[in-house]
Amino acid sequence: MLKKGEILSVNVKMGNEFTHPDDFDHYIESITLFNGETKLASASFVPGTLGNEKSHAEVTFNIRPMGKKLNLVAHGYCTKHGIWESTAVVVEVAE
Ligand SMILES: [Fe+2]
Repeated sequence: MLKKGEILSVNVKMGNEFTHPDDFDHYIESITLFNGETKLASASFVPGTLGNEKSHAEVTFNIRPMGKKLNLVAHGYCTKHGIWESTAVVVEVAE
């Protein structure tokens, strides 16, 4: 179990079976990680980060949980389709 104060690596990958375009007018601009309503971290991309090829935008955030529980939710922002929200992942944190 994760202990309070330990670094947790959280990998966020956009899409499962479907890839997403990386075109100049249509790309994943950012991936943001939240603990409930609280923003923890964000990564931004430019068109061409993924070589203008259809792909899965992906990022790993290293965070240090200090509370008893994390309720992790990620948002991916597409310049054409807006916000995609992940299913929540609850992580218990031991003292
Ligand atoms: Fe899109």
